[in-house]
Amino acid sequence: MAITTEAQNTVIFFDTTLRDGEQSPGATLSSAEKLEIARQLSRLGVDVIEAGFPAASPDDLKAVQRIAQEVGTADGPVICGLARAVEGDILTCWEGVKDAAKPRIHTFLGTSDIHLQYQTGMTRQQALEVIRKSVTLARSLCDDVEFSPMDAGRTDPEFLIQVCALAVECGATTLNIPDTVGYVTPQEWYETIENLIQETPGAGPGSGIIWSVHCHNDLGLATANTLAGVRAGARQVEVTINGIGERAGNTSLEEVVMALHTRPQYYGLHTNINTREIMKTSRMVSNYTGMHVQPNKAVVGSNAFAHEAGIHQDGVLKHSSTYEIMTPESVGLAQSQLVLGKHSGRHALKVRLQELGYSVEGDALNQVFARFKELADAKKTVTDADLEALIADEFHGPEEIFSLEDIQVTCGTMGMPTATVKLRNAKDEEFIHAAVGTGPVDAAFRSIDGIINAPNTLTEYSVHSVTEGIDALGEVTVRISTPEGNQMFGGYGADSDVIVASVKAYLAAVNRMLAVIGYDDQQPEGDVAAIGVKSEH
Ligand code: KIV
Ligand code: ZN
Repeated sequence: MAITTEAQNTVIFFDTTLRDGEQSPGATLSSAEKLEIARQLSRLGVDVIEAGFPAASPDDLKAVQRIAQEVGTADGPVICGLARAVEGDILTCWEGVKDAAKPRIHTFLGTSDIHLQYQTGMTRQQALEVIRKSVTLARSLCDDVEFSPMDAGRTDPEFLIQVCALAVECGATTLNIPDTVGYVTPQEWYETIENLIQETPGAGPGSGIIWSVHCHNDLGLATANTLAGVRAGARQVEVTINGIGERAGNTSLEEVVMALHTRPQYYGLHTNINTREIMKTSRMVSNYTGMHVQPNKAVVGSNAFAHEAGIHQDGVLKHSSTYEIMTPESVGLAQSQLVLGKHSGRHALKVRLQELGYSVEGDALNQVFARFKELADAKKTVTDADLEALIADEFHGPEEIFSLEDIQVTCGTMGMPTATVKLRNAKDEEFIHAAVGTGPVDAAFRSIDGIINAPNTLTEYSVHSVTEGIDALGEVTVRISTPEGNQMFGGYGADSDVIVASVKAYLAAVNRMLAVIGYDDQQPEGDVAAIGVKSEH
């Protein structure tokens, strides 16, 4: 059954972190990570999860199917899959979502003259024919069908109305209007959406059709444009956690939700989002995708509730409303800063992890308990953020083609920074390699490169501490690209030793790259053979 917005005062949150978000360069997620994010999105209260693009690959299809089966329960969210407006995609999409209690097919076609001329080579008439066939097919399979005229922001307004009217006539229940390239401005977008709602035959107020907006952030206007669309009458917003997505990203879920919640008099609209789950979801997505959240990011950045100027601190101490328009608690921050310490046992850890949304049992629990004890010895109190970082580090990464056994570095002012790394491959063979570099991290990465024949360019390296204090856990995210620069891969690592965290992050990124481009497990000749030592078993 398609969702309706009863009194037209509820905004439907359609989360596309697992589809458009995963299209962020370097943000590839494993199926297990997608499933766990989907579960967290359900706890967050999103109404629709766009779980992926089933026709993109057999793995994408399987990931969507699992989410449909395990998260798409009767009281859970709608599970949606994306499909190009072609028969094969739509049939595969249905295979992906059909096991959900509330499945949706989302199909799209570029409708701007630019897309028609340069991408699909279709005339407007041909595009209309394709839309007719694809929406009709989707609706024959599924009661809940969303249609998107891609690049609507640059589509001729008259043609856009024609396209939307046709999609409704063929059975679409949601009309999503995308500003695919982040081109429009808020007032303009307000007028576009208002005009579409008024002028599209069969889709006006009372028709039951849900109007939706999907904005990209190329000019930094995604949230403003989305809210303008809502003011004009859109009742579905397409968003991602932390605003990740193609190029400069999509609209951030957390920004739109908190705008609606913080300004109820202005918007007068309700959402089903449990805002207290926002921080947890943000950290999970950031850890799994390796896409670090900038400190000054609205709502979820580490500085979002930090006050630096004396006058601000003075005001907040007297009354938080002086400089805070929402409370940290309302987005799930500072709910329990002090969690566990070195005297806490396995049971307390398990319960806390469950409260954080992670179900960890058996060997996995033993593993995380051992890491927790080490950390608690080093830093007295272990916070939720520490636990989330440990979980991400321990269990979430790509399939390990190579895993880290040991790392040893020497560095300082008296010699050349040198690192020795020992890795193990899937055949249980060990490889040791030593290298010098400009610093210990560089030397460690070169040691890995000496063992694994996977040329790449390091495009980003960032390290930050999970909590405050000298004993804090260090989190490292890296991004690498293939030498041609056409594919990017991210990696994440956490450890109280930042060199170890760096090596884990780099290795995770390299493993991701190898999983995609394939790996010839012939070790390189020459240098490596000379320096690398294959240890005896
Ligand atoms: O940006 C876009 O146009 C999209 C569509 C597939 C909705 O992501
Ligand atoms: Zn998009």
